[in-house]
Amino acid sequence: MENRVEVLRKYIDEIILNMTDVEEKRCAYMHLYGVSQFCALIALKREENSELAIMAGMLHDIYSYATMDSNNHAHKGATMAKEILAKLNLTSDDESKLICDAIYTHSDKNLIHSNFNEVLKDADVLQHCLYNTMLEIKPHEKERYEKLKREFGIL
Ligand SMILES: [Fe+2]
Repeated sequence: MENRVEVLRKYIDEIILNMTDVEEKRCAYMHLYGVSQFCALIALKREENSELAIMAGMLHDIYSYATMDSNNHAHKGATMAKEILAKLNLTSDDESKLICDAIYTHSDKNLIHSNFNEVLKDADVLQHCLYNTMLEIKPHEKERYEKLKREFGIL
């Protein structure tokens, strides 16, 4: 049995490959792989489950990229992620619930949820902010970004 993170990534690669807009396709690869790697970094730092955090990162915006509709994508994305995880049969019910719940709350950056859910939100912010440090930080991500820099010893 192949490593389950890689099985999931192959499935997600197929969805991204089907995107017609080249620019959006580049964003999808960058953002989903970037967020999944930042999920790993933050999860390891906070002693959360890094494997499941990586999977949540890969899946968190898949609804937006598959449908090119970002409206209510966190909630719709949680449903889509649940279907994908059920189809791939890689995770237990508890693991799927953990991943999908994090996706469900990931747009609520002004609220604090469980430690695992916060890993995904912070990874999302970190990918946006570190994509190009010369670009302006969006106001709704500023506070989290400053906290993350402090957490990682960047003053
Ligand atoms: Fe995202």
